[in-house]
Amino acid sequence: MKIVCRCQDVTEEEVVAAIRQGATTVDEIKRLVRAGMGACQGRTCRRLVSQIISRELGKPTSEIYPPTFRPPNLPVPFKHVMAELERQSKEKPRKTAKKGAKANEEHI
Ligand code: FES
Repeated sequence: MKIVCRCQDVTEEEVVAAIRQGATTVDEIKRLVRAGMGACQGRTCRRLVSQIISRELGKPTSEIYPPTFRPPNLPVPFKHVMAELERQSKEKPRKTAKKGAKANEEHI
């Protein structure tokens, strides 16, 4: 028994069974067996599920429809949010300057 999704304790056999029921995308697997609905929101298992679909359907992983996913569901300390906002506010003037410089280059 191989665990594919450690957050939801979903095994490879369950994923294969879902594919044999007709699932062809990572999102369909998610709806059938909940792989990808755990705390990491599929960060760990999404690629494994895609590889299993690829193997079972005989398609390259590049042809497997990409899943929709949300960022991991973890609390973020407010000080990190403020630090990021502060960092972005310091970067803004530089971005504007680059755009201006680029625009000037185009006119030359
Ligand atoms: S390992 Fe599947 S949701 Fe986290």
